[in-house]
Amino acid sequence: MDLSAERLRERLRRPLRYHESVGSTNDLAKAWFLEGAPEGAVIIANEQLRGRGRHGRTWHTPPNVALALSIILCPPASAANRLTMLGALAVYDLAIAAGCAQVGIKWPNDVQVNGKKVAGILPEAVWQGSDLRATILGIGVNVRTDFANTNLGDHAISLEDALDRRLDRAELLQTLLERLDYWYARLSDESTFQAWKGRLNMIGKRVTGNRRSGIARDVTRDGNLIVVGDDGNQMTFEAGDISLRAEPGADA
Ligand code: ATP
Ligand code: BTN
Repeated sequence: MDLSAERLRERLRRPLRYHESVGSTNDLAKAWFLEGAPEGAVIIANEQLRGRGRHGRTWHTPPNVALALSIILCPPASAANRLTMLGALAVYDLAIAAGCAQVGIKWPNDVQVNGKKVAGILPEAVWQGSDLRATILGIGVNVRTDFANTNLGDHAISLEDALDRRLDRAELLQTLLERLDYWYARLSDESTFQAWKGRLNMIGKRVTGNRRSGIARDVTRDGNLIVVGDDGNQMTFEAGDISLRAEPGADA
């Protein structure tokens, strides 16, 4: 088995809790933070029974095939919206390090390999009144998930399918967390924003979502997407607002 508490403790020099099966790692990380877990602590699971995705969707995490983790981070509130960039950058680096050739970030934070979604990021805030106490950065990566008997196959892919070789999930987690630490140390830097922007694969493409369409023109430093609509009006979308799709082969 490529994932176990022992193997993870050897490789990841940080507070961690490993579970064979959980509802959602984000829920456990939040509960652990409220019990006193320090910044940087991570919950890792081999399976999620109620994995959550964006827009209230379910995130498919069967046993033995994926990375499912949630990291406790306490950024200044002014930089919290950068965490979504951070997760995407770290997974992007992981896919490149593993040897994937065609990697891109689909705004705001899906990492795609060969044009399909290999990972998703779900940041969730922990508030006390109006104070941001922590952000739980949830990351799911498909390592060897078989999508054949699901309805996700058209849009989802696993790293091992893209690479056609076996990967070790403990090694992948080590690389992923090293890259996260790297970017987190540079959270507010202009170069972090530029790195994220430079890896987006939607800029200049025709996009549609929620019955609106146009050309994705740019992103703001807060991570919002600027789209010039078909009527010529400029629209700004926040990451949580809309699910946009680039139309295949429809570059502007
Ligand atoms: P988003 O709005 O998050 O960008 P999307 O619908 O544009 O999502 P697609 O890549 O087009 O993303 O579709 C993949 C769909 O399958 C999404 O709804 C995603 O949440 C869902 N899904 C559930 N589990 C997985 C998984 N393990 N890997 C990839 N996609 C998954
Ligand atoms: C998306 O829809 O793109 C976001 C998917 C986020 C999935 C990860 S898996 C670990 C963490 N726990 C959850 O319940 N969701 C996130």
